[in-house]
Amino acid sequence: MASRTTGSNLSTPRGWAADPGVIETLISADRLRHRVADLGKEISRDYGESELVMVGVLKGAIIFFADLIRSVTCPIEIDFMAVSSYGEQTTSSGVVRIVKDLEVSIEDRDVLIVEDIVDSGITLQSLKQHLDPRGAKSIEACALLVKSGDLREDYDLRYTGFQVPDRFIVGYGLDHAQRFRNLDFVAALDGP
Ligand code: IMP
Ligand code: MG
Repeated sequence: MASRTTGSNLSTPRGWAADPGVIETLISADRLRHRVADLGKEISRDYGESELVMVGVLKGAIIFFADLIRSVTCPIEIDFMAVSSYGEQTTSSGVVRIVKDLEVSIEDRDVLIVEDIVDSGITLQSLKQHLDPRGAKSIEACALLVKSGDLREDYDLRYTGFQVPDRFIVGYGLDHAQRFRNLDFVAALDGP
């Protein structure tokens, strides 16, 4: 159940209560923990003993990524990519720039891209297109959250944690203007 946080102590260590009344919890830390553990089991079952390159998309996926890899039991190598989209700040502009590329070779290897949230699908599609020519054995994607708005791109997501409403989401790695990443739960920033 959603609950509204109305903290007003500006000196709270997490620093989010400076916005009393604007954070609505959508997914508690407990639910996140259980779902992430289940996703890890699913991934482990699907890949078995094959070695997997798990690619975290900076910065939003860092907390999800750190939790997820610890519940994956197949042998993995990790790497990171960073992207930025030009244009408006809260919606994808459709132009995605690779700010940090992979360091590892993915030739002949299974790759799993780990994203925080998929909205239009443009970011994920661009990442896949960017990696496609490198001869990977497979490229799949896992997102903690999928927004239930209009999907504008036909993206292919193999693993999904939760559906979230078409609102601005923060916490558990996701930010608004670089803030709120340190919440251990997922929240909506705007009103319902
Ligand atoms: P897409 O390209 O429209 O699918 O947007 C995906 C990217 O935009 C994600 O990787 C996030 O970095 C960012 N994003 C989209 N929606 C939100 C949100 O509600 N909160 C925080 N970041 C978001
Ligand atoms: Mg992201």
